[in-house]
This record gives sequence, C-alpha cells and structure tokens, in this order.
Amino acid sequence: MHRRGFLAAGMATALLGSRALAQMKMDDMPAPMPGMDMGGHAGHDMSAMSRGPAPVLPEGEALRELPLLASEAGQPGLFKATLTAKPAATRFVEGKDTPILAYNGMSPGPLIEAYEGEQIEITFANRLGGEESTIHWHGLPVPADQDGNPMDPVAAGADRVYAFTLPEGSAGSYWYHPHPHGRTAEQVYRGLAGAFVVKAKADPIPAAYGDTVLMFTDLRLTADGSMPENTMTDLMNGRVGDHLLVNGQKNPRMAVATGEKRRLRLYNATNARFLRLAFDGAAMTVIGTDGGLLEKPMATGEILLSPAERVELVVAFDSPGPAVLRTLDYDRGWMGPGRPADAGLALLTADVSETPAAAMPPLPALLRPVAPLSAPSLTRRFVFTETMAMNATGMEMGFLINGKAFDMGRIDIVARAGETELWEIVNQADMDHPFHVHGTQFQVIEHERDGKVSKPPYLAWKDTVNVARGETVRLLLRQDRPGPRMYHCHILEHEQLGMMGIVDVRA
Ligand code: C2O
Ligand code: CU
Ligand code: CU
Repeated sequence: MHRRGFLAAGMATALLGSRALAQMKMDDMPAPMPGMDMGGHAGHDMSAMSRGPAPVLPEGEALRELPLLASEAGQPGLFKATLTAKPAATRFVEGKDTPILAYNGMSPGPLIEAYEGEQIEITFANRLGGEESTIHWHGLPVPADQDGNPMDPVAAGADRVYAFTLPEGSAGSYWYHPHPHGRTAEQVYRGLAGAFVVKAKADPIPAAYGDTVLMFTDLRLTADGSMPENTMTDLMNGRVGDHLLVNGQKNPRMAVATGEKRRLRLYNATNARFLRLAFDGAAMTVIGTDGGLLEKPMATGEILLSPAERVELVVAFDSPGPAVLRTLDYDRGWMGPGRPADAGLALLTADVSETPAAAMPPLPALLRPVAPLSAPSLTRRFVFTETMAMNATGMEMGFLINGKAFDMGRIDIVARAGETELWEIVNQADMDHPFHVHGTQFQVIEHERDGKVSKPPYLAWKDTVNVARGETVRLLLRQDRPGPRMYHCHILEHEQLGMMGIVDVRA
C-alpha cells in the first residue's frame, strides 16, 4: 500500500469534524470516486454489489469441525508441519465458484492443536503469487523474530520456517493470520486465518464436554460469487460482510442431548464486526479468554466479542428444542450510511433432542490460578484519534495513535523485558477500537468512561481488548522477550490506515 499524500502537510489545517465530513462525503459520493487513493484500491467499482440479486447462502448444514493440521514430526514434543498460502476456489453458493485465499486449500485454515511444552516448527510456503505475506501467531508468546511482523516479509514464492516453543502455562485459544505491510486486511478477508489451540497437559475441563472451535468470519459476495474489494465505507469502518459464518458455514446446526454440556471456543476472526452474542435456550458460562482459563467459571447472559477476541465457554443445553447462538444490537460508532444490521443474526443452531444425555461430570469450581501482574514501574498513554481531510485527490482518513500514523521504520516506544507497565489506552475517536499487543498476554485493570470507573468481572489473560469510543482502558502488561512488537487496532482496515505502533523490548 502506498499512503501517497496521506497526512500531507496541509492536513493539520484541513481537519474537520470527522463524523460530519464522513457523512457528507458518503451521502453524495459517486461510485467510484475518481482519483481516490484509499490504500491501494483506487477507483474500484463500488456499485458492483448492487448489480444482480444478492447471493443466498445455504443454512442449516451440520456443523463441520475444523480439520486438524497433522504433525509430520513422528516424535513426541515436536510439532512439525507446512502451511501453504495459495489462491483457491470454494463454493459458498450453489453453482458459483468464489476465488479465495486459503491455507492448505481451506478457509478457515486447518486447526493447529499442540500441547504446552511442545516445540513448533511450521514451514510457511507463500504461493500467493506476486504478494508478500507472513504468518503472525496472534496471542502466542513467540520470539519477536518468529512472530510474522510486517518487517519480516516472506516474498511470493519463498518458504520460511517459524520455530518456537509453547511455554508451560500457555494453554489457550490463539490464532494465526498474515501480517504483511499494508495487505493484512485484504489477505484476511479473502480467507487467510486459522485457529491455534494450545492444550494444557493437565486440563481441568471434563473431556466429556468435548472441545469445539467456532471461528467466526464475515463474508461479502457479489452476484457473480466473487468477493468485492474494500470500499470507502470499509476503509472507514472496517470491512463488515453480508454473511456471518461459523467455520465457513452459515448458521450450521449441531445435535446435542438434553443435559449435555459442551466446551466451545469462540473466535472473532472478522476484520471489523463486533459480536454481541446471546445463546437463546442454553446457558453460557465463561471459562476462559484469549490467553486461557479464568480462575473460576463465570455464568453470563451475553458476550461482547470485538474483532480478534476469543472466549472459551461451557454451554449447558438443559431443555429440548432449538437453542440459537445469535447476535444482539451493538452500536460501535458507525460512520456514514450503511450501518449493517447487527441484531438477530443466527450464528449457530443447536438441536437439543428429548433424549437425556449421559450424566455429565460437573465443571470444577476452580480452574487454575491467575496470578495478578506485579505493580507497574511506569505508565504509558496511547491516545487513539481519527482524522479526515480533503486534499487534491479526494478525502483521506487517518487512524492515529498519539497523533502518528504507523511507520515501519520508526520505533515508537522502548520497554524493558521483564518489567510490568501500566498502559492507558485512551479512545478519543468516534468509533470503538479493539486494541491488541503482540508477544504477550495482559490483564485489564479498569475501564473509565465519563469519569466513571469500572472493573472487569474477572482477572483474565487477554491480548485484545475493546476500547469503546470515549473510553479509557487501563491494563498491566509485561513483555518477557526482547525484540520489536506491534500494537494496533484489530479492525484490520484501521491497522492498514495507520493505527499501529512498534514497542521495542530490550533486555
Ligand atoms: Cu492479530 Cu497484529 O495481529
Ligand atoms: Cu497479534
Ligand atoms: Cu480501529
């Protein structure tokens, strides 16, 4: 991507009320806008979506579990495999091939399941044809030079090995996706993302509950079955699709018996959709977050999962009939017209049979200790802002941290390995921004909005946290390994347009 003229000199004088300007421009914008340079997709046709009837996706197929990536190591303690990123075709709609980008031919990519203490060696084969890429191990505590940073691209046609060890205590729900400079958003929405589950050697959750990954993605198809490029609205709000999918399927069904309990790992792998979820007809208990189990299970009526967040649940199906995992309304601060309908989308339907399940072992009252991080040695402040400016070539948007757009050649902050820091993420913008840091898991201490401070309901390991518009989130964080780490908004279009920085961790 070339941010030509982005944040040009004239910008400081051209700042306007961002929401007002965005609305004005969106309302009377011709499609396409001539001469627009919005992150490399200049001049694409915004009207393509309205041509022909919107494709209808089949619903109600049996839920597919994600296929496992097999280890070729043939020895305990080592997980060795290859992930090949390559264009592929799939059928979301009867009779229409959709070109996608796939890992090992599938999207979502194969599920990586490995154990704490294991050594991982994954060869990444970039067969995207003309595009560089990387694999980033979202949430995992891997060495900085193995983490698929944009500074370490893998050229088209090249292979590279990512090698790291999964530390003891790292069991949790992680994922992998590309992170090349300026192209992450597109490579992800075209299909490149997969789940990486680190299993505990001693797992307190009864095996009878199973362990199912539910990866949520968001698909937009044109009438011919292809995926259109990002529009202005997508760049501004992040790309939200027309079809919310679970493991690549629309509203799949799963069969359970009355009284059955299931362990479900929910992944928000969408570019930009906020998922406020409820399970009608079933009872949800949160048992874990991004970086693994909580100390104690926590019953809940609903969940907010912002882009890139994960939650681990035990769901109890106690009454026969359909139980539906569905979305509730959530206002994350949409700019311009076309706010997608958030509420009432069915993600997954469980058919709870009349037959009673075999007796299920109870969920233990204590899952594992979560030790609070030590007192911070310093406080850092990160202020999120959005800017909008007109210049000779059209409107340009900026998503900034502390007034700056991302620069791959710039280190924004220097931190000491092993020291706890207090990070204060201040959202002064008009949209929610899910904040993510590479290389470690943090603990959210408090949220503040309009002078009101609230504490999270439990102590948890997280790598992504939503910072709602007008909100400040305070978190404790410690990086244990040296090297450069990215921190950014996980609305991938915002990351692309500048809302990212680098912390260099030094020994
Ligand atoms: Cu999910 Cu910088 O990553
Ligand atoms: Cu990450
Ligand atoms: Cu954002």
